[in-house]
Amino acid sequence: MNSPKRPGHTGLPGKLPRHVAIVMDGNGRWARKRGLPRPAGHAAGVEALRDIIRACDEWGIGTLSIYAFSTENWARPGEEVSALMGLLLRYFAGEIDELDEKNVRIRILGDVEGLPGPQRDAVCRAMERTGGNTGLNLNIALNYGGRQELLRAARSLMADAATGRFDPGELDEQGFARRLYTGGQPEVDLFIRTGGEVRTSNFLPWQTTYAEMVFNEILWPDYSREAFREDLWIYAGRDRRFGMVRT
Ligand code: IPE
Ligand code: IPE
Ligand code: MG
Repeated sequence: MNSPKRPGHTGLPGKLPRHVAIVMDGNGRWARKRGLPRPAGHAAGVEALRDIIRACDEWGIGTLSIYAFSTENWARPGEEVSALMGLLLRYFAGEIDELDEKNVRIRILGDVEGLPGPQRDAVCRAMERTGGNTGLNLNIALNYGGRQELLRAARSLMADAATGRFDPGELDEQGFARRLYTGGQPEVDLFIRTGGEVRTSNFLPWQTTYAEMVFNEILWPDYSREAFREDLWIYAGRDRRFGMVRT
């Protein structure tokens, strides 16, 4: 765990990640600490998210993947799931103009078909509207599970093999990666989880095999571009060897 006492850089490091993935965790605890219902923490989390997206846009980070709702999160109490689904609709209604204006391209990672109708329509409209944009790639993981993503890729490969469109002997890592929701994007360089838990919770298992992992104690609604900048400095200080040795 990285110490909550942080040095406080003003500028950015020279070496930035191309793809950052964030598990935005700690909303419920943030609300509980204030005697508020958990959904109030999720609403506050949207403010933090806005700041981080703006920072990625301003700092020239190519791809940001955020974990918004996992396949496991359906198991939460019905009231909380409804609140999250309501927030999702408000999020797209409230943010889409700014995102589009900033040239952000939205991609949903996850099973869109499994979302309720209004949410499905809203995310499809957002993807269509921003599909031609060329700025920050914003991947929003919704109804996302890493194992589900791998199974889906395997199923599509098997279906193509069964019809003779694809020879299983020819499959390589690039060919498999193309079948993932993140197909065509670089793999994750920096994986950040806020909220103090040190686990990945089924987020981007294939794409993070060589990511640098940064876990911090900050509850997501308290995360800010200043904290993000410190995490980028931690990343810049890591020695990425990819199995090789430094000579
Ligand atoms: C993360 O915050 C947001 C979602 C899972 C949607 P949590 O709701 O998991 O917050 P904690 O972990 O209970 O504090
Ligand atoms: C991971 O957080 C999912 C999201 C942030 C959307 P959780 O709070 O659901 O994960 P666990 O339960 O701590 O593993
Ligand atoms: Mg949590």
